[in-house]
Amino acid sequence: MLKSQIIRSVEKLVRDACIAPGNPYGERYWRYHIQIVVKLAKKLAKQNNVDAEIMELAALLHDYGQVIDPENAKNHHITGAKQAKIVLLKYNYPTSGIKLIQKCILSHRGSTNISKTTKEERILADADAMSHILNLPNLFYYAYSIAKMDVGEGKLWVKNELEKCWSKMSDRSQKLVIIEYKAAKLMLN
Ligand SMILES: [Fe+2]
Ligand SMILES: [Fe+2]
Repeated sequence: MLKSQIIRSVEKLVRDACIAPGNPYGERYWRYHIQIVVKLAKKLAKQNNVDAEIMELAALLHDYGQVIDPENAKNHHITGAKQAKIVLLKYNYPTSGIKLIQKCILSHRGSTNISKTTKEERILADADAMSHILNLPNLFYYAYSIAKMDVGEGKLWVKNELEKCWSKMSDRSQKLVIIEYKAAKLMLN
């Protein structure tokens, strides 16, 4: 199978999982999170001379663990890395690529403190954080519509998420979204 076909198949797999009946992530997660992380990861890949195809697959699969198992979201970096291997092996994807994609997924969360030793891991974590900073309505939607927080609670939660995202980013990526970050902080204070 051509690599472009593998990407299209993985794209379909993740989108179908998001929009599966009863899945709490739904179309919103696909459109306002996964697709944005993919776009940003590809952009950062180009800027950093990194393989854009690897980054696209890592971005597509980075939250797959929680999309297929919402109850176990806290370990989604671990389950996601395992699932990525299972999915990519079906397409006979090169082992070195699978290992790198797994590393990216394992270390993408700021809260895990797993050290990043490759540019690719840095890019995925940055793209994930940037996608939230550039997309505050999605965080508000989660706070108010899904988690049913009240106004103050939701505002505080979004503010904490914003800070978490900011602090996990590299200096280089922070510079790319500093205006949006400052504007969001101003609005939330
Ligand atoms: Fe995640
Ligand atoms: Fe994510």
